[in-house]
Amino acid sequence: MASLAKFLVVTLLAVSLLPSPATAQLSANFYSTSCPNLLTIVRNAMTQAVNNEARMAASILRLFFHDCFVNGCDASILLDDTATLTGEKNAGPNRNSARGFQVIDTIKTRVDAACNATVSCADILALAARDGVVLVPKHLSLHRDKQLGGQTWTVPLGRRDARTASQSAANSQIPGPSSSLATLVNMFSNKGLSARDMTVLSGAHTIGQARCTTFRQRIYNDTNINAAFATTRRRNCPSTGGDGNLAPIDSTPARFDNSYYRDLVARRGLFHSDQELFNGGSQDAAVTGYSNNGASFLRDFAAAMVRLGNLSPLTGRNGEVRRNCRRIN
Ligand code: HEM
Ligand SMILES: *[C@@H]1O[C@H](CO)[C@@H](O)[C@H](O)[C@H]1NC(C)=O
Ligand SMILES: *[C@@H]1O[C@H](CO)[C@@H](O)[C@H](O)[C@H]1NC(C)=O
Repeated sequence: MASLAKFLVVTLLAVSLLPSPATAQLSANFYSTSCPNLLTIVRNAMTQAVNNEARMAASILRLFFHDCFVNGCDASILLDDTATLTGEKNAGPNRNSARGFQVIDTIKTRVDAACNATVSCADILALAARDGVVLVPKHLSLHRDKQLGGQTWTVPLGRRDARTASQSAANSQIPGPSSSLATLVNMFSNKGLSARDMTVLSGAHTIGQARCTTFRQRIYNDTNINAAFATTRRRNCPSTGGDGNLAPIDSTPARFDNSYYRDLVARRGLFHSDQELFNGGSQDAAVTGYSNNGASFLRDFAAAMVRLGNLSPLTGRNGEVRRNCRRIN
């Protein structure tokens, strides 16, 4: 009996000391001796990329989301199609839409010039996504000082790169713009993320652009839409044709702020899926809360980005550190 009790105590202690599988071994200082300049290299490259094209902050943030939602944050989205590998770039949610791959290539080249074959593409993408957000100002008054503008968070590191990709999982597990609230909640729940995480991560739509084809149905047929907003958006998105014409997703696409939620409260959400977050359902209170308190949005967004980045990383000896982010070694 005594030995059984001792066994139980030791076992429970050992189990309680194990990191949870979702966060196994990631740590902010993972490369602090093997690649001490990593954070500076990524930040400088992202600064150049965003100065060159402001939208790149949004495009890289979305790449990270689409990476993490398909078999975890393992750089699977970066793999090009080959004769033997069907990648994720041509899955419905990514084709003609996912962008920023050249920026990741540039960063990888610079990182490898300093620390050859050390840093994974998955970690580079996680850092670049964070840096993009940092480089977009929170307020108009900070436009002149982009370096200090945006929300930041510490990125846990130590992910490794996948040797596989899944186009079918990209097609079935990334939510689309016609999704209902129930579908959105369910798709995030399938990843271990809460409805609240879904609502706060959707606040990423405070930056970036969308193609007419993703919001046409909403602006012509949805009834829970501000009429003046629908009229404005129809001007550059005809009922047929113009599929690739772009519109900003929220009213202030150059600021990482809570305008996305203020727009939802005004029934000016661009996607049907966006407006589902404020349409009489479970997320109305969260949306109203963020619309009234921009600081709470920024804080909760940062915390939720860490949870997104913790999805099923490959660690230890699993996966590999790719030499070229577009191909397995
Ligand atoms: C909740 C479910 C979500 C749906 C249904 C959704 C859907 C979409 C769609 C349809 C687009 C436009 C794509 C195009 O026109 O090519 C888009 C853009 C974007 N999404 Fe989402 N999204 C969701 C969640 C997220 C999350 C969680 C993030 C990041 C944390 C994110 C970040 C972005 C960004 C930044 C853009 C703009 C990209 C650019 O300008 O290149 N989205 N999203
Ligand atoms: C970088 O690492 C790869 C893989 O280990 C190796 O093949 C290559 O020779 C290295 N390049 C340099 C410049 O050290
Ligand atoms: C709007 O709905 C009508 C009736 O269901 C449909 O015929 C039409 O194609 C839809 N328009 C758009 C732009 O989706």
